[in-house]
Amino acid sequence: MAHLVLTSSSLNLSNTTKPFSTPSNHPSTIGHTMFTFRTPKPQLNKLVLHEQTLLPLLRRGFTVFATTLPVSQDTQTQPTSGFNFNSVEPSTKKKRVMVIGGDGYCGWATALHLSNKNYEVAIVDSLVRRLFDHQLSLESLTPIASIHNRISRWKSVTGKTIQLYIGDVCDFEFLSETFESFKPDSVVHFGEQRSAPYSMIDRSRAVFTQKNNVIGTLNVLFAIKEYREDCHLVKLGTMGEYGTPNIDIEEGYLTVTHNGRTDTLPYPKQGSSFYHLSKVHDSNNIAFTCKAWGIRATDLNQGVVYGVRTDETELHEDLCNRLDYDGVFGTALNRFCVQAAVGHPLTVYGKGGQV
Ligand SMILES: NC(=O)c1ccc[n+]([C@@H]2O[C@H](COP(=O)([O-])OP(=O)(O)OC[C@H]3O[C@@H](n4cnc5c(N)ncnc54)[C@H](O)[C@@H]3O)[C@@H](O)[C@H]2O)c1
Repeated sequence: MAHLVLTSSSLNLSNTTKPFSTPSNHPSTIGHTMFTFRTPKPQLNKLVLHEQTLLPLLRRGFTVFATTLPVSQDTQTQPTSGFNFNSVEPSTKKKRVMVIGGDGYCGWATALHLSNKNYEVAIVDSLVRRLFDHQLSLESLTPIASIHNRISRWKSVTGKTIQLYIGDVCDFEFLSETFESFKPDSVVHFGEQRSAPYSMIDRSRAVFTQKNNVIGTLNVLFAIKEYREDCHLVKLGTMGEYGTPNIDIEEGYLTVTHNGRTDTLPYPKQGSSFYHLSKVHDSNNIAFTCKAWGIRATDLNQGVVYGVRTDETELHEDLCNRLDYDGVFGTALNRFCVQAAVGHPLTVYGKGGQV
């Protein structure tokens, strides 16, 4: 049941009366006690050392979760060894921001920026993007450190802790655990398959893109509704949701008069790939849940992001962000810069209508 990958030296043991996989479980309706103990080293297999302590708990229906704790919290409140029955509820009043997709291009820079601004930050990421790179034999132009090294380097350079939850937001059980554990005030959701060309390679990539993006976002909306109803969602859509209409693109809504009656309606969207269409579906689901459940959301349909450096990523080479310039994940302006630097003619996606 250990969906969460451990990166610090503390483990949470939580008992629940029902498994988290039941979507109707609301934290306020279940007994939920958290304990911590310290292992001398961070590896998960140190759990074996405490087998005698753990087994009676497991027999009594306790569920074991491995998760991360901020080192600062860890060192202030935990003893150096043995069981500790202190609550691990966060004592800090800092705003807590969950950055889904925080190992990616936009997410990493955002996580560092928010951490630098003294927000309590947790990264949630399945690391699937690193898998795509391996599968397609692609590589960031700038060498990027592993997510574990990135986070520990950030800690050593700034003294600030970023929590890490490795898992797939399409897995609602995992997502529920992260919400219960981190208790976000806001969620910034970057965690999607974000390449139009990737979504058009073949059927399996098209299906993956729509499933990953639409179900992931739907799960985030349900997690907010069930666990953190006041949490503000900031979701990255894309300018490409609008397509390239021959009239001005309005900010979300368009006032239309038809057969003598007038209404203000969502601006028509015309995604030009299965990826763009996945974003259109996300936007519809977000708008619907705002209306139906009162979800607080900002759905950004912004254009291409470019560049590689921020004040925070400049602090150490291990904090360096990725720069994609290949034909699948390379974004337009990054590609143009690299192509110009090596004297290669600038290339566009499709017929270049988006540029
Ligand atoms: N980069 C741009 O120029 C740009 C422009 C417009 C919109 N966006 C949007 O911003 C978001 C982030 O883009 P990016 O360029 O940082 O992409 P990226 O591929 O660099 O990062 C996405 C991250 O999300 C993770 N992820 C994907 N699916 C996940 C899942 N189901 N569960 C958990 N993690 C998952 C990946 O592992 C990766 O680390 C995307 O939604 C993208 O559509 C990006």
